[in-house]
Amino acid sequence: MGSLGDWPEPVVCVQSLSESGELVIPGQYIKPQSERPSFFLKEMNIPVIDMTGLITSREETMKQISEACRVWGFFQLVNHGVGIELVDSVREIWREFFHEPMEVKQKYANTPKTYEGYGSRLGVEKGAILDWSDYYYLNYLPLCRTKWPAHPPSLRELMEEYTNEILKLGAVLLKVFSINLGLKEDALQNAFGGKEVGACLRANFYPKCPQPDLTLGLSSHSDPGGMTFLLPDEQVFGLQIRKDNQWVAIRPARHAIIVNIGDQLQVLSNSIYKSVEHRVVANPDKQRLSLAYFYNPKNDILIQPISELITLKTPALYPPMTFEEYRRFIRTKGPRGKFQVESLKSQR
Ligand code: OGA
Ligand code: NI
Repeated sequence: MGSLGDWPEPVVCVQSLSESGELVIPGQYIKPQSERPSFFLKEMNIPVIDMTGLITSREETMKQISEACRVWGFFQLVNHGVGIELVDSVREIWREFFHEPMEVKQKYANTPKTYEGYGSRLGVEKGAILDWSDYYYLNYLPLCRTKWPAHPPSLRELMEEYTNEILKLGAVLLKVFSINLGLKEDALQNAFGGKEVGACLRANFYPKCPQPDLTLGLSSHSDPGGMTFLLPDEQVFGLQIRKDNQWVAIRPARHAIIVNIGDQLQVLSNSIYKSVEHRVVANPDKQRLSLAYFYNPKNDILIQPISELITLKTPALYPPMTFEEYRRFIRTKGPRGKFQVESLKSQR
């Protein structure tokens, strides 16, 4: 991949803006009217899938997952097998990281070349309107630990443990999706690169915002990768998804992991499964933490609709493209709803 160079202007850490006590947010965070959030939405329950059902009532659970992928693109997993204490410790350790002194965090400041490390910005266009959040971006696979924080000391070990659980979940779900799509059970795993899948974490920190009605914690986007395992903040809500063209607020179930379909699964399934637009609203008096684990295809494998799903009536909707090439769009332009995956269609 060619280099994306450096940030076009100095990066401002949103946590410091928030802690400055200023009651007015800088102009660069003010969204155009049409993108500003609404807070009084109906809350909707996205499907809740009990993973133990894959053993005790397999057929029914497979059906629930199939419907969740086709109709919602978003669901919550409960009894997912990832230890509750592990999940709580992982959340806690990242909270601690974001509360380290600024000098410690700045040691890990990221650049758009790989995005790895501590950052506050997605996209490299000068003057772009920014989101009210900071993040830490961590690559797990392909194997690379150069940008992992050394503090808090237990972070690395906890993340190794948590990642292994996520990789197991990812493999189980790819199997379920393959069978549900009428494919061989290893079809999607192979399309992702077999054992060489990609895995990376985005720890999101959303500081308090004095004018949450003017900005967003994270602008509307669909996740570019394969699928995402999101550990939401259980105390502070803020995630909204676009359902039938309306924004709806998500209330996470206790100890749930939220799964959403990314663009690469939309492409592979030839749009039988849809990646869904989502965003995060800012909060006036509470900070919010979430951990988004992206389970992705191998960087350099060509991703295109799986041939068994292509028929005369359902021709391939997307041209082949590697994930490495695909993800350059969001890394250059920042979050843009579903613009990228939808515009690919016209390139066929
Ligand atoms: C993301 C994301 C949602 C959240 O990191 O891609 O959509 O609740 N996060 O923070
Ligand atoms: Ni996302």
